[in-house]
Formats: sequence, C-alpha cells, structure tokens
Amino acid sequence: MTCQTYSLFVLSVIMIYFGRFGNSLILAQLQNDIDQLNADFNSSYSDVADGQPIFTDKLINWTERNEKRIILSQIVSLYLEMLKPMDGSKAHVKHIANELHTLKESLSDGSKKMKDLMDLAKLQMSDLQIQRKAVNELFSVLQKLVEKQNSHKRKRSQSQRRCKC
Ligand SMILES: *[C@@H]1O[C@H](CO)[C@@H](O)[C@H](O)[C@H]1NC(C)=O
Ligand SMILES: *[C@@H]1O[C@H](CO)[C@@H](O)[C@H](O)[C@H]1NC(C)=O
Repeated sequence: MTCQTYSLFVLSVIMIYFGRFGNSLILAQLQNDIDQLNADFNSSYSDVADGQPIFTDKLINWTERNEKRIILSQIVSLYLEMLKPMDGSKAHVKHIANELHTLKESLSDGSKKMKDLMDLAKLQMSDLQIQRKAVNELFSVLQKLVEKQNSHKRKRSQSQRRCKC
C-alpha cells in the first residue's frame, strides 16, 4: 500500500481525466516518470498512508463532466506548484510538468470557474454597497435556481416518455 500510494494518487488524477475526455497521453510512458518522482519524494515513507488521501477521495462526488473540470483544474495547478521548485533538468520531472501544463490549458474553462468561486469567497458581505448589489440581484439569482429545477424536471419527463415508446 504505502509504496505505491503516491504514484497511485498522481496517476488516478490523470487517469480520471483521460478516462473521460481521452486523448493522446500515453499513461504507460508516464508511469515510469511517476515512479522516478516517487523516489524523489520518498513516497514509500509510511506517513503517506496516514489519514485520508488528499485528492482521490474528494473527487468521488464530482460526477458531472463540467464540474469535474473545475476541481481537476485546481488539482493540476497544485501539482504544478509542487513541481516548480524541482530541478528542471531532470527528464522525468520535465515530462510530467509538460503533460500537466497541457492538461491545465485544456482545463481553462474549469480554471475560470474556479476563479469565480474564489472571487465569491473574497466578497465582503458586511460592505453596504455589496449588500445593496446583492439584494438587487437576489430575485435574478433565485430565478436561476428555479430555471435549473424546471429543466431537470423537463429532462426527467422526456426520458419517461421515451421509456414508454
Ligand atoms: C528522501 O530521503 C533521503 C534519504 O533519507 C533524503 O536525503 C532526502 O532529502 C529525502 N527527500 C525528500 C524530498 O524528502
Ligand atoms: C459523497 O456523497 C455521499 C452522498 O451525499 C456522502 O455520503 C459521502 O460522504 C460523500 N463523499 C465524499 C468523499 O465527500
């Protein structure tokens, strides 16, 4: 378990992505690079198995394609941040970083949505002008919510109709 855990969690992120939106990445090639990264990071140390996985557990409930792109864009950025201080002359590091950069670019819509969430977290809700804007937008926001529920209902009833055919 401990020896492979790190490699598994790096890989699973990439596999989950490519399993869904597959293209040219050859996982078998990356596996060697990831094995070397395991050695660089001593990821066979027993503490790797302590507590919960940091990414793979979180991905379980992100099931829709577009929502997965949000969380994966963030996770890929975290890997890139981790690799940044590493020696760029190592071929395996360079290779993995290149693949992750390509992935990140292909997830740019997810990154933008992530930025929306971060912007929301920064809003000062005690600010009076922000409060006025918020109240002014409340009806439209609730309207969005109702629209979404209706479209779910519509989809359900369409599929029920199809079933009867
Ligand atoms: C990995 O372990 C070796 C030997 O114990 C040590 O010299 C090195 O600094 C460790 N590297 C990391 C990233 O922990
Ligand atoms: C996923 O969703 C289920 C059902 O809402 C919940 O019980 C479970 O704790 C969630 N798992 C994670 C890892 O968030």
